Amino acid sequence: QPARAVDLVEEESGAPGEEQRRWEEARLGAASLKFGARDAASQEPKYQLVLEEEETIEFVRATQLQGDEVSRRTLRHSKEVGKLSIQAVRRSLPVFPFREELLAAIADHQVLIIEGETGSGKTTQIPQYLFEEGYTKKGMKIACTQPRRVAAMSVAARVAREMGGGGEPLGIRFEDCTSERTVLRYMTDGMLLREFLSEPDLASYSVVMVDEAHERTLHTDILFGLIKDVARFRPELKVLVASATLDTARFSTFFDDAPVFRIPGRRFPVDIFYTKAPEADYLEACVVSVLQIHVTQPPGDILVFLTGQEEIEAACEMLQDRCRRLGSKIRELLVLPIYANLPSDMQARIFQPTPPGARKVVVATNIAETSLTIEGIIYVLDPGFCKQKSYNPRTGMESLTVTPCSKASANQRAGRAGRVAAGKCFRLYTAWAYQHELEETTVPEIQRTSLGNVVLLLKSLGIHDLMHFDFLDPPPYETLLLALEQLYALGALNHLGELTTVRWEVITLPLTAYSCSEEILTVAAMLSVNNSIFYRPKDKVVHADNARVNFFLPGGDHLVLLNVYTQWAESGYSSQWCYENFVQFRSMRRARDVREQLEGLLERVEVGLSSCQGDYIRVRKAITAGYFYHTARLTRSGYRTVKQQQTVFIHPNSSLFEEQPRWLLYHELVLTTKEFMRQVLEIESSWLLEVAPHYYKAKELEDPHSKKMPKKIGKTREELG
Ligand code: CDP
Ligand code: MG
Repeated sequence: QPARAVDLVEEESGAPGEEQRRWEEARLGAASLKFGARDAASQEPKYQLVLEEEETIEFVRATQLQGDEVSRRTLRHSKEVGKLSIQAVRRSLPVFPFREELLAAIADHQVLIIEGETGSGKTTQIPQYLFEEGYTKKGMKIACTQPRRVAAMSVAARVAREMGGGGEPLGIRFEDCTSERTVLRYMTDGMLLREFLSEPDLASYSVVMVDEAHERTLHTDILFGLIKDVARFRPELKVLVASATLDTARFSTFFDDAPVFRIPGRRFPVDIFYTKAPEADYLEACVVSVLQIHVTQPPGDILVFLTGQEEIEAACEMLQDRCRRLGSKIRELLVLPIYANLPSDMQARIFQPTPPGARKVVVATNIAETSLTIEGIIYVLDPGFCKQKSYNPRTGMESLTVTPCSKASANQRAGRAGRVAAGKCFRLYTAWAYQHELEETTVPEIQRTSLGNVVLLLKSLGIHDLMHFDFLDPPPYETLLLALEQLYALGALNHLGELTTVRWEVITLPLTAYSCSEEILTVAAMLSVNNSIFYRPKDKVVHADNARVNFFLPGGDHLVLLNVYTQWAESGYSSQWCYENFVQFRSMRRARDVREQLEGLLERVEVGLSSCQGDYIRVRKAITAGYFYHTARLTRSGYRTVKQQQTVFIHPNSSLFEEQPRWLLYHELVLTTKEFMRQVLEIESSWLLEVAPHYYKAKELEDPHSKKMPKKIGKTREELG
């Protein structure tokens, strides 16, 4: 049986004979590399990297993203950037020549839209310019929001280094460790939203910069409406809206025709290649293509876009495995993952320069699309997918599915290849698919998510007429309606849709009734850092799973979370303890922050702290009181939600996956491969009548059959993969 080959159709290169030379070099590097004949149709040379049992992937060059003249001229300069001091790097960024002009524009206008290529220095430089210009005098602060935590933290660390000259970070804080000296706050868009609760006019801020506005996250979109309103009665507040893409006209119109400041890009041309035929398995195709690029292309790092942690880990493992098999036949390939839950020391590695002679391949989520700039990328590999949330207001189900990315997204990704020199982008789909199958832009999150929390927040801010809130794009009517209905069922809103005055009592009553506020605070804090508690490195899966199972307590996942936190607290909040138990230290630290905030809130409404002293029934009842509308029962054909009668499954990561109790409460429903309930708690149906007599009728809660249920209904972990 002939070995199958990987084909890469190279674009025609300038110098004749150069292709051949490069090929010869590659052949010296990889013994099993063969020179293919010219492609019969196009007469272009074909490269073949023969690896056993590989698929054949053939790319054709189709289009080119244009660079600009500035870029061609600054190539030499950019190559030298690596050797510059941190201050010289600041001066080398595209935004620097526009510093004065930009500051003048900010002085002249209350709202300014700023548009500039990723990496031009918007996020790291503009807040510093404002600081240098004196916008933080008289104790005022500057806020800069990011849609993603990872980006906010990474940027805050970078700016601290730039301002502190490498020493002690000066006056920059991320998160809620703001001190007296804090002048710049890099925060997530959700954090600034919560800031409105304690300071509705943002009085302590002189400038608010809504960054990465083009991402159109739910929180960013809500911020737009709120900030527009605040700006009206605080004329001295400066509002900056920064975006990487060309949709700035929308923002300008929304903010009463605010002027747009364009930072000219420094972008090199990027050649775009498409596959000749669609790829069935994009993960496999990715791995093959990376090796192909590595073996046949001149130096330069590779950036691969995948959709999430598991995929990224799988791809990295496959790549490392194949590199090992090829051994010294190929040059060194550094394989580096980047995703939100990756421990910070691993994250920092992607920014380190590639050692001479080696090549770096960064396997990333969407985060590398515009939020993070990685220097040295020349090649981008784009399978054309992303993970996207969608919401069905009829069933109340959120789903997270891998879907084709938009054209706008694909072009952003391609652009990442042209930051330091002319680059190449390999798309693992056909030119036809790009033209006909991809949407132009991504639908804003506000139109594909549930709105419960946002509605509660807006109502708390005194915004009653949500139907007429100033949305950049309004959410679907049904979604808004369902959110209102659920809040009404909870007793948080009255029949007029107003926040009930007894809201705090409603929320805190179960805590006092069941005297377990200590435990509930912990569970709530742990739920808020959802699904990122346990760390499961691919090479230690068995150890990690054992560690997780050791935390299991009868009763369900909420109690498991409580158990993890309690043990961690007993260890003195130790990072070593986390490491040994495969628990994510950063998530735990975040849970601790959230818990402290919640404790502060309880103090404000004068609810004392009390502990259930190990009587977990009380904890389970208190949780039931808050989540009574999220319930499912086991029927002969598996689990059904009690109210909507929808078929659902226990997530295989749950501690109750094997147990299959008859009545369950779930924290959330997520559609991935199936409709999964995540974070489930075993309850008794009688509790539902006890805590929510207005919501349930006794008849609904009768067990249709009294015989014992078969022990296992669902598939095992292994079967689910
Ligand atoms: O926001 P924008 O995309 O316009 O650029 P930026 O994030 O301010 O990045 C400007 C420069 O700072 C880039 O050259 C980055 O490589 C560098 N940077 C870095 O080295 N480390 C970070 N954590 C963030 C930015
Ligand atoms: Mg930025």
